[in-house]
Amino acid sequence: MKIEHEGFTLWFTGMSGAGKSTLSEIVVRRLREGGAKVEVLDGDIVRTNLSQGLGFSREDRDINIRRIGFVAELLSRNGVIAVVAAISPYRETREEVRRRIRNFVEVFVSAPVEVLAERDVKGLYKKALAGEVGQFTGISDPYEPPVSPDVTVHSDREAIEDSVDKIWRALEERGLVKTG
Ligand code: ADX
Repeated sequence: MKIEHEGFTLWFTGMSGAGKSTLSEIVVRRLREGGAKVEVLDGDIVRTNLSQGLGFSREDRDINIRRIGFVAELLSRNGVIAVVAAISPYRETREEVRRRIRNFVEVFVSAPVEVLAERDVKGLYKKALAGEVGQFTGISDPYEPPVSPDVTVHSDREAIEDSVDKIWRALEERGLVKTG
């Protein structure tokens, strides 16, 4: 189904392993299938190029988020959909980015830290709990949940298709995506 769309930024925030990348991949696939122009900025990937060498102090995370926000703004102001998946733990920094981007949709991917530590897809929670990885979000570093995100998905108790539908509806309601 052909999609008409505006440029916008779809920003996934949430702790490591909550499902930001997975959800964003599904949304991106759906957008591309409709012929949309989409670029993805995923924290794990950005940190291997644009943000190579940055660590996980508040300062470094903020630099990372501002860089991602900068690129997302360039893309979305030129009619491209920028899909961002980054922990982006600090509310104030997310708000700063939001203020700079005209069409900004924030998706909070929520799951209890106990569930994430149990899943531990990358084995990082185990290391963080053992003190082998420092400043780990949710364990030894803060995560500030959004106060009024555009969409909240509960990845511990929602079917992934339902989460994707919620996101899609939010985009349609805002007139950012139109399916003909
Ligand atoms: S952010 O805080 O700057 O937004 P970003 O999303 O780019 O983080 O990167 C997070 C990824 O880095 C995690 O998914 C995880 O794989 C890895 N990582 C390594 N060390 C840490 C840490 N101390 N805290 C959080 N994530 C970490």
